[in-house]
Amino acid sequence: MINYLMTGFEIVKRLVKEIIRLASVALVALQLRARDLVYTLINVSIRRRRLGSVIPPGYPGHGREWPKYLAPNFESDSRSPCPGLNALANHGILPRNGKHLTYRQMAHAIQHAYNLSPTLAERLTAASRELDQGRGWIDLHDLNALNVIQHDASFTRPDIAFCPDQSSPNTELVDKFLAHASNGHSLSLVDLAYYSGLRRVESKCSNGEHSLSYSFKHKYFGSGNCALMYAVFGGDVNDLKVWLGEERFPDRWEPKNREALGYTVVQSQATTLAIEFNIHEDQALRPEDESYFEGDVEG
Ligand code: HEM
Repeated sequence: MINYLMTGFEIVKRLVKEIIRLASVALVALQLRARDLVYTLINVSIRRRRLGSVIPPGYPGHGREWPKYLAPNFESDSRSPCPGLNALANHGILPRNGKHLTYRQMAHAIQHAYNLSPTLAERLTAASRELDQGRGWIDLHDLNALNVIQHDASFTRPDIAFCPDQSSPNTELVDKFLAHASNGHSLSLVDLAYYSGLRRVESKCSNGEHSLSYSFKHKYFGSGNCALMYAVFGGDVNDLKVWLGEERFPDRWEPKNREALGYTVVQSQATTLAIEFNIHEDQALRPEDESYFEGDVEG
């Protein structure tokens, strides 16, 4: 027979446990915020890193020299929908097989290669914890899971409904994206917002399993990725063609963001909000896009 007193006790015990868990998450988030604010204030008060020395001595990429690029072997290597992480594995800054990556390893690699603050590196990495089932590590391929971080209407991959393996970029989509630089050589924030709107509508119209419309969180992730890409590449089409299309660092490249303590969460959120709230799905199409929905890019 069920003991109702013990059941009540168990409910209270689990509630208390959950409250303690939430409080500790809130505490970690709060201290991350406070640290990030300090980094941001220091960044605006001291000199930026010198051109040619954005990556500190001793780290891969210092002096614009990157470890050798090797294209992945898709039979044995694990890759993700993220050009940022795949490029690191293709250059051997993360293990080339893309497997068994710890959060520390990922945070360390992205912080130094892309000149991010430790707080932003931690925060980006934390987003993948939901995938690891408590193991403490992931394979890059785990990031394929829909609607954890990966979402519809990406710039370099067709939706997962059309392309179940999100491990490699689609050249046609990459070229289409880069063709949207309104001055021909550099994508502006306006171009990024415009193109996001276009991809969202396209996904909604062509994908019966479209799942982005009602998820502000995933729209925000999408704009967050645009903000990161904009900070690190400054919208440069030639560099982005190599990074997005081949998931490789362009020769003699270094990050455009030169903050002394790295690009912070506060900075990235300000740009993310600016992009997200300038995305209008009912926008007027540019003349070259008027035939956009006639073709089938997802095919
Ligand atoms: C550990 C940290 C990171 C994780 C877990 C992660 C994960 C992901 C995932 C799952 C996606 C797919 C989203 C989609 O469906 O479009 C993605 C996309 C993307 N990531 Fe990352 N990422 C990380 C770090 C970075 C860094 C450091 C950069 C840039 C310097 C970056 C740039 C991008 C960009 C530009 C996209 C969009 C690609 C597209 O729209 O096709 N990521 N990331």
